Amino acid sequence: METIFSGIQPSGTITLGNYIGALKQFTELQDDYNCYFCIVDQHAITVPQDRLQLRKNIKSLAALYLAVGIDPEKATLFIQSEVPAHAQAGWMLQCVAYIGELERMTQFKDKSTGKEAVSAGLLTYPPLMAADILLYGTNLVPVGEDQKQHLELTRDLAERFNKKYNDIFTVPEVRIPKVGARVMSLQDPLRKMSKSDPNSKAFITLLDEPKQIIKKIKSAVTDSEGIVTFDKENKPGISNLLSIYSILENKTAAELEQQYEGKGYGDFKSDLAEVVVRHLEPVQKRYYELIESDELDRILDAGAEKANYTANKMLKKMEKAMGLGRKR
Ligand code: TYM
Repeated sequence: METIFSGIQPSGTITLGNYIGALKQFTELQDDYNCYFCIVDQHAITVPQDRLQLRKNIKSLAALYLAVGIDPEKATLFIQSEVPAHAQAGWMLQCVAYIGELERMTQFKDKSTGKEAVSAGLLTYPPLMAADILLYGTNLVPVGEDQKQHLELTRDLAERFNKKYNDIFTVPEVRIPKVGARVMSLQDPLRKMSKSDPNSKAFITLLDEPKQIIKKIKSAVTDSEGIVTFDKENKPGISNLLSIYSILENKTAAELEQQYEGKGYGDFKSDLAEVVVRHLEPVQKRYYELIESDELDRILDAGAEKANYTANKMLKKMEKAMGLGRKR
């Protein structure tokens, strides 16, 4: 079986964008791959976090992974900071990466531009992400489109390490969904939907209540034409809503265009809100059962144990290849 690795930052309640771009893929792939799914808390601290809120978000994200259908019998679910090999391997890969290539990362540019103080961790984030992936001999990394550049760097670092030290890393492939790879903000359809957006009307979280979901979708920015057609260039707002609808209901945009022919945005938006609410209802029910249970801790303990075992084996190979420590 080939190996999959992917991670999500516990930097807020995950959004419909995270679900469509990433989590939905994870649940579909877990039957056919040896999967590692990670709560990447060390990535989250590259920007300021409230200590108590971060702890809460970590548990909450773990419960959401399970609530959407990740099966701990099939996939290994764990917290990054509970597997120290990630930070250790991340350091080694920082020494393989060049400052110039890290400065070229668009995520770094987006998150650092205009900021007075930027942590060094924000710059060295991609080598840590590469470590996450490479420690498990990963073949495939399912992510949304915004992570594509980081994956290209991961591949470059793996190849560079293999050539310079020893051929130990599998060079991973990226897997980006055909539809929904970039779910856009409901308030500014030219920007991606993000859980850290200061305007909460811009995103739907997996834990939003039905009333909030309906309100957010009704106030989603569209255009004045009133015709439900998919045209990303000229009608980014309605096209984004069509993509969300299309993925959740497994219908093509063309089918939906036909369904809403002669109807306005009002009808379309109320139906979409109903679709989203219906999809999230069972997820939320399961989430609230899990969040208070001991089951969650047991799953995370078992996940950390399994991940530590695999990651430490690769870490030893990396140390040997680079000449760290003593021969034993
Ligand atoms: P993060 O936490 O920002 O997002 C988690 C996953 O959700 C996807 N995603 C989206 N997909 C579609 N539309 C959107 N609006 C949207 N917003 C987010 C992301 O592409 C991602 O797949 N650097 C990563 C976390 C990470 C990681 C890893 C991922 C750390 N190590 C190793 C894969 C492998 C991040 O910040 O994702």
